[in-house]
This record gives sequence, C-alpha cells and structure tokens, in this order.
Amino acid sequence: TRVVILISGRGSNMQALVRAASQMNNVNIVAVLSHSLNSDGLAWARTQGIETEQLVYDAAGGQTRAQYDQLLCQHIDRYQPDLVLLAGFMRILSDEFVQHYSGRLVNIHPSLLPLFPGMHTHQQALDAGVRVHGCSVHYVIPALDQGPIIAQAAVPVLSDDTVQTLAARVLQMEHKLYPKVLEWLAQGQVFLDPQGKVGLTQPL
Ligand code: GRF
Repeated sequence: TRVVILISGRGSNMQALVRAASQMNNVNIVAVLSHSLNSDGLAWARTQGIETEQLVYDAAGGQTRAQYDQLLCQHIDRYQPDLVLLAGFMRILSDEFVQHYSGRLVNIHPSLLPLFPGMHTHQQALDAGVRVHGCSVHYVIPALDQGPIIAQAAVPVLSDDTVQTLAARVLQMEHKLYPKVLEWLAQGQVFLDPQGKVGLTQPL
C-alpha cells in the first residue's frame, strides 16, 4: 500500500503514522507533502528517508484554489498512492481534488463528528460543556468534515480542562487511532462502498 501524507506544520500525526507503518510489512509511506512554509514535520520526515515536498500556495501571485489543487494533485499522483492521508492538513480542498481521490482520501478531525466540525474544536467542546470529546477518522467528501466515519476515539473532558490540556489528551488518542485505521485500510478491512458508506470485511 503506497501512502502519501499531507501535513501543514508540526506533523505529529504524520510521525505516528510513519512509526506505525515501519512495523507493517505492506505499507510504504512514499512521500510527505506540506502546503505551508512552517513545516517542521517535513524535516523529521526527511530524517526518516522519506521524500518530502513543500508546495506553498501562492496567494500573492494570484494562484487560484483550483490551480493550486491541480498542481498538488499532479505532485501527489507522481507517487501513485493507494491512500492519501490528511494529517493536520489545514487547507480546504476543492471538490475536484476530493473527487479525484474518492475512496482513497482520509482525514483525522479532532472532535467526535458530527459534533464540532471546522476550526477550534476544543474550544467548541468546552463552550458546549460536553463531558466526552475525542477524534474521528473519516473518508473525505466535498462537504467539510462530513465524510463517512471510519473510527472514533473518546476522551473525558475534565472540569479544569483548558483548550491546551484537552487538545493534548485528544492528540494522544489521535496518535493511536490514525495508525490503527491505516492498518485496517492497508489490510482491506475497511473500504468506501459504492453507496458512499464505510464497508467492513469483518467486524473491527
Ligand atoms: C491535530 O489535532 C489534527 O487533528 C488537527 O490539527 C492537529 C495537527 O497536529 N486538525 P499535527 O500536525 O498532526 O501535530
């Protein structure tokens, strides 16, 4: 299974995926791409011998979203990926891009979807006063954060939580959940069925 990972910055989810993939015999992380200038994660990926690319969106140069996404798509497709994993990738992708990778494009979102789509999910959870929060791994469809959910992990919200403490608790779960889902995807245990629902070859 050839995997391309897209990141925006720190890349701790990407690191968790790379570490886990090194223990799987059928998974090859072939490249890590970032759209952002500040991408500490890329330097780490290089130390692991993984190809990296920094493809920065040229807003000043008048590049349109469609043009950027086409370019990104061309760069990704050179690696002929079976899976494209968004790991803390903070750019909204065009419908064309999403459709091109339909069934191969997966994202991790730091909330128990469908609660708290979009940004600032931990603040949203604190504001709502929920007692349970978490993360979701889902197939990407054009509607933002609304794709079919593959797996979720929950954490408690404690009465003295701040955005930082809550985010850190969720992030620990992200680092466990995403590698697990990668394993299922690579083994073909999970797939997107023709009705657009998550199919399972056996109970997880
Ligand atoms: C993660 O919480 C991810 O779910 C979110 O942004 C954070 C990125 O962290 N959307 P990292 O770059 O994987 O360290």
